[in-house]
Amino acid sequence: MRISLRLIISLVVGVTLLSILFAVFQVKAEKRGLRKELENRAAIVGESLESKVAPLLDLRSRKRLQAVVTEFGDRDHLKGIAVFNKAGDSLVKTPGVADDLQGVLPHVIQSIATKASYASFTPLNGALTHIYILPLQNESEVLGALTIFHDASFITAETSRLWWNTFLRALAQAIFIVLVTLLIIRWSLMGPIARTAKWIREIRAGRKAERPGFDDEDLFQPLTQEVTRLAKSLEAARAAAEEEARLRENAEAHWTPERLRVHVRSKLGDRPFFVVSNREPYTHSYRGKTMEVTVPASGLVTAIEPILRTCKGTWLAHGSGDADRQTVDERDCLPVPPDEPQYTLKRVWLTKEEEEGYYFGFSNEGLWPLCHIAHTRPTFRAKDWELYQAVNQKFADALFQEMEGVEEPVVLVQDYHFALLPRLVKERVPGARVAIFWHIPWPNPEAFGICPWQRELLDGLLGADLVGFHVQSHCNNFLETVDRVIESRVNWERFTVERGGHLTQVRPFPISVACAETPEPASSPHASPYLDRAALLKEHGVEATYMGIGVERVDYTKGILERFHGLERFFERYPAYLGQFTFVQIGAPSRTHIKCYHDLLGEVEAEADRINWRFQSSQWKPILYLQRHHTHQEIQRYYKAADLCMVTSLHDGMNLVAKEYVAACEDDQGALILSRFTGASRELRDAVIVNPYDTEQLADAIHFALTMDPAERSARMHRMRQIVKNFNIYRWAADLVTDLCEIRLDTHVEVG
Ligand code: F6P
Repeated sequence: MRISLRLIISLVVGVTLLSILFAVFQVKAEKRGLRKELENRAAIVGESLESKVAPLLDLRSRKRLQAVVTEFGDRDHLKGIAVFNKAGDSLVKTPGVADDLQGVLPHVIQSIATKASYASFTPLNGALTHIYILPLQNESEVLGALTIFHDASFITAETSRLWWNTFLRALAQAIFIVLVTLLIIRWSLMGPIARTAKWIREIRAGRKAERPGFDDEDLFQPLTQEVTRLAKSLEAARAAAEEEARLRENAEAHWTPERLRVHVRSKLGDRPFFVVSNREPYTHSYRGKTMEVTVPASGLVTAIEPILRTCKGTWLAHGSGDADRQTVDERDCLPVPPDEPQYTLKRVWLTKEEEEGYYFGFSNEGLWPLCHIAHTRPTFRAKDWELYQAVNQKFADALFQEMEGVEEPVVLVQDYHFALLPRLVKERVPGARVAIFWHIPWPNPEAFGICPWQRELLDGLLGADLVGFHVQSHCNNFLETVDRVIESRVNWERFTVERGGHLTQVRPFPISVACAETPEPASSPHASPYLDRAALLKEHGVEATYMGIGVERVDYTKGILERFHGLERFFERYPAYLGQFTFVQIGAPSRTHIKCYHDLLGEVEAEADRINWRFQSSQWKPILYLQRHHTHQEIQRYYKAADLCMVTSLHDGMNLVAKEYVAACEDDQGALILSRFTGASRELRDAVIVNPYDTEQLADAIHFALTMDPAERSARMHRMRQIVKNFNIYRWAADLVTDLCEIRLDTHVEVG
């Protein structure tokens, strides 16, 4: 790599100019010093001579006067001495100044006349000479003048020598500095730049390349960070383009982020897009003094985040992190994802009381158990209901602030936390297209009737143009509830409800995951997951041949205890697997402010301990219970390493862990044990379907999954992967947006 000539010239010129500037000051100072020294010297000679010469000015003393002058005349740089009488005639002189007398005469006469000494540097007969004239006087009158001539030409010579030295020094400095700079550039900058360029070239060429390491990481950190991001975007764009091309080639119609982006834009045009949910996709919190960002354990976030990344828009959610306020602007917004912003997150702040009543109380102690029917009694309190209404209004206000001036916004409301929001939005902005997606089951009308405010909830929901559930049976339950409870007209053929002149479409949209087509890059630390099982277990001090995985928020609907009992029974019935099979349970603590969730954490841990105590050996345990929040990347590693995944929910709207696991099994290896009470079991029919309450069946299912014929295992997983790929989250979003945009707002009320 060549260093530009311009850079070298600039360096040389810069350094030289600087040296010359210093030299000018130095030479001037030196010259001043030499002149001063000469002047002092002349003054000293003058003073010494004055007293000796003055008495010898009469005619008789001429010889002695000459002797005195001649004796003094032999000094360093002293050119000569001359003595004048008061008429300006030269009395005596040393030989060297005979020719110079004429030149100084006017100054001599003036000095005698003014009785003042005179000094100057004057060129005399071609040589710079310092002359010093001293009037000689007794008490009453001027008797004559003493003139001292110093040869000052050595000052010019000295100055030239200095200039020459300075020039040589400047040259040496310039060469030295240029060399050092070039070496620094070569070693510290050009090396890393060349490696970075090579790295970018490799990426551009589509080859896998390791990020180069740098000696001075701090210096290059901003550059490498940006290039890493650029590389990621490029890889993602290339993967997307390849996938598009592949799909076109195979005439397949999978939904990709690109396809969704184009589709959504064609449907929405310029209409802004808003999503509202309780849970935010990124939480900022303090760990000690450092701020960290986490992606919460939430199926909703898993599903909605890829859509926002693809379609941009604004996501409104509760700012629940203790550092959340530190990262937003004056509108409470921030661009996310934090390291590669693609859409806007607007945070809505709740007081402790609001969170308590709306989130923990009404949503999660009331609606959650009401809709899941998992043997936990719902609790409804009037105070919680008040706060639920107030928070719905608060979110509506925040939304109105963002939608100001927008006539036809598209709003996707998420989940049971915001049943009242659709009506609030439609009343204020009739031109808005509003959909609400209910992520949890909808129970039968008898069960829903437990809720004292069922009418208000239904009325709020029917403000939406579109109400979505995961599966058809939840749509049916919802329409039956509406039919029985609220004044409206239900059309069972079209699955619509007409209430107060407004029509609401009700439809199933089975939610899904992104399901990346392309495997993770080889440079990823989790690139060889299948070999990773032993290493993964070893990190926890366990050795086992087979591994199972379960990933949940610790929630009573997830059937974690039932699963543990199934595992216990499995080891009782199939003791050959003792020491061979370990089940890893990842449990993210959730809603622990609610007593039954708090108690469940303890129960799950105690049950894992009990079973481990019963069967474990020094190097092995049947259940590895990891009770903490894990990142998506961490979980992927477990999915890929596992022989089987267990999803044993007692009731679940969809369950995205099942789909995430299938999406992660890129080699078609792995078996899914899936509760029949999940929405996912309607689609993933090749899973080993179980009733989680049936402990014997669970034990058998684990055994079956571990001993399944490899061909069957692979065929089942392959078919499930096809389903997850075909019905991925991009298709879900496309279907939802398509239906929402095709609804005609002006002719809502049906005739006949
Ligand atoms: O299933 C309903 C749901 O809101 C999901 O979307 C999400 O996975 C889960 O509950 C998370 O609950 P929370 O936000 O209360 O932690």
